[in-house]
Amino acid sequence: MSLLQRLQKILAARGICSRRKAEEMITAGRVSVNGAVANLGDSADPETDEIRLDGDLLPTASDYVYILLHKPRGFVTTASDEKGRPNVIQLVDVPQRVYPVGRLDMDSEGLLLFTNDGDLLHRLISPKKEVPKVYYARHEGAATQEDVQAFADGLTLRDGTVCLPAKLEPLGPGESLITVCEGKYHQVRRMLASRGLPVTYLERRQEGALTLCNLPRG
Ligand code: URA
Repeated sequence: MSLLQRLQKILAARGICSRRKAEEMITAGRVSVNGAVANLGDSADPETDEIRLDGDLLPTASDYVYILLHKPRGFVTTASDEKGRPNVIQLVDVPQRVYPVGRLDMDSEGLLLFTNDGDLLHRLISPKKEVPKVYYARHEGAATQEDVQAFADGLTLRDGTVCLPAKLEPLGPGESLITVCEGKYHQVRRMLASRGLPVTYLERRQEGALTLCNLPRG
């Protein structure tokens, strides 16, 4: 039995992009089905049809890869960097086209997952799923009980951005563990800065059930 689905739905599930982005890719002529360039509105059978993006076959469940990288400092998390800085993709040597799950800023280190499994990627980065991420930070100043409470209440950053409630655990003067369930731009640095605790070192240690363990950098 043929199970036809809209191409943008198939791409969104397996091509690591939103349906809207998939529609743009189809309109741009980047998608083909069984050798013929697809048009917006076309459907295909994800089980039997040969679907390609930019000439590359879409991954199927058996082609999915999951890579845990200990990102070193000094690498940007982006597919292409206009400033030509070292890029995390250079550290991941696999034949599949994989994508980082969320971002880790250039000066931060730690756990960064890569995959070509679009469903998993979207589940992990969606703020609605609230996957907890744990960071170790060294910072200037010492975090107080008022800081702990302010994190628990939900901080408002200096630019007015409101954060979901988060956990701050002081480990000693100038070092803390921070648990957040969202991924706003430079979030942990900005949260600590908003409490007068500027970060000097930041490492992501855990994301959901995944931990950095003793994985060496790079
Ligand atoms: N918070 C930050 O400040 N930077 C990151 O890369 C991730 C979380």
